[in-house]
Amino acid sequence: MKHIYNSEAFRKSGHELIDILADHLTAAQEGKIPVLPWDTPDNQFTFWEKYDLEDGSATTLFKDIIERSIALNHPGYAGHQISPAAPVTALAALVAAFMNNEMGVYEMGAASTAIEKVVINFFAEAIGYDTQADGFMTSGGTLANLTGLLAARSVHAHTDVWQEGHAGQKLAVMVSAEAHYCVDRAARIMGFGEEGILKIETNDSFQMQTEQLDAEFERATEKGLQVIAIVGSACTTSTGSYDDLEAIADFAERRGIWFHVDGAHGGAAIFSEKYKPLTRGIHRADSVVIDCHKMLMTPAIMTALVFKKSKDAYKTFNQKAQYLWKEAAEEEWYNLAKRTFECTKEMMSIKFFCLMQLYGKQGFAEFVETLYDLGKTFAKLIKKRPQLELLTEPECNIVCFRVYNAELDTAENNRINSNIRQNIIESGEFYIVQTTLRNTVYLRTTLMNPFTTESDLEALLLMVNG
Ligand SMILES: Cc1ncc(COP(=O)(O)O)c(C=O)c1O
Repeated sequence: MKHIYNSEAFRKSGHELIDILADHLTAAQEGKIPVLPWDTPDNQFTFWEKYDLEDGSATTLFKDIIERSIALNHPGYAGHQISPAAPVTALAALVAAFMNNEMGVYEMGAASTAIEKVVINFFAEAIGYDTQADGFMTSGGTLANLTGLLAARSVHAHTDVWQEGHAGQKLAVMVSAEAHYCVDRAARIMGFGEEGILKIETNDSFQMQTEQLDAEFERATEKGLQVIAIVGSACTTSTGSYDDLEAIADFAERRGIWFHVDGAHGGAAIFSEKYKPLTRGIHRADSVVIDCHKMLMTPAIMTALVFKKSKDAYKTFNQKAQYLWKEAAEEEWYNLAKRTFECTKEMMSIKFFCLMQLYGKQGFAEFVETLYDLGKTFAKLIKKRPQLELLTEPECNIVCFRVYNAELDTAENNRINSNIRQNIIESGEFYIVQTTLRNTVYLRTTLMNPFTTESDLEALLLMVNG
């Protein structure tokens, strides 16, 4: 065992690793390595299945992993919504992994539990909540949305679902047809079934048609459904569209239901004076989800779930666990397992706190503004090219477009765009994704790297259609 827990060996590989990572950062930023070292899943599996660390050095293993992984610091990285982690947060992650404090009970994670409360207060203030607000960090937007909706159910279901199950109630949630699939999944996990997910159609800009809400609500009630919540997207995943949160808040208040905001991607705009107006009305939500690993520069996975009223957060998991805490009924902010889904939870708050301390709110604002501005620049470049069709004016850093030939049918145009994307990602110069909207394939970019320039985007468009 001693050789496994040897501090000198750790020191040596640690220093080597930091050098490798710093070199990787420079090479990626300068575009000297492929953004994605493309390989098929089967080849990748064969490589690792046959892998043999002949020299017994962790440094060699780390190098091999890095070489075969996507490089988010490359200016050609414009695909999914994970941010290049600010390098210092990787150091914070190392501290978190090394200390391995878990966060269920206070004693096991004293510093990070208290830090988490500071981080949540920082979010609550930026949302515009008052001092009644509270919340916690959890492992991802998917889990946070589920947890928010579980709280909604505890507060609004007519019976005590936690004790009695659904007991004949038909519960339902209203959500945009363009919401992230995890909201649909959450509703199904909660047993609402297909009937209990009321998908509201979107307008030409892919925002929820809020003028339909009252009629949908009436129809659902006539069918015997009890609508307990509505989810606003800030913003949607495919197109980056912000729902009208003020209109949704008005509706939720009128109908006396829970208002949840899925701001996993675009909730981060609350930190920017310039883009905060996109989230107008967010302070009226009962719960808000914001991912830190998307638009807030932290490593995956870490999400803030903030409740307008602290009490609501405690209603979700009304359980006793004698070995963890003495009084199940007491609202102890410092015993986080009372409110989170997780039991063991990593010290996620320290990564975000590190950025707060070093760069302040301004650092988050700059990140959001640089990328949202870049989205607008990219849209302008696309519109200059007659062979390209911009799906919709981007509100953020998610931009969808396609090569469009009016003489070809949709299937053929779809095939052409899918092939373009595959060729691009195999080139190693850019990484973009695709999305299918209303049966049409679009090239989808999420501009996540603040060092991607206008000329990088010109080069991408050259690869798209010459
Ligand atoms: C709007 C939205 N909600 C939720 C999620 C899921 O978040 P996570 O990947 O952190 O579970 C995503 C991820 O893309 C998203 O874009």
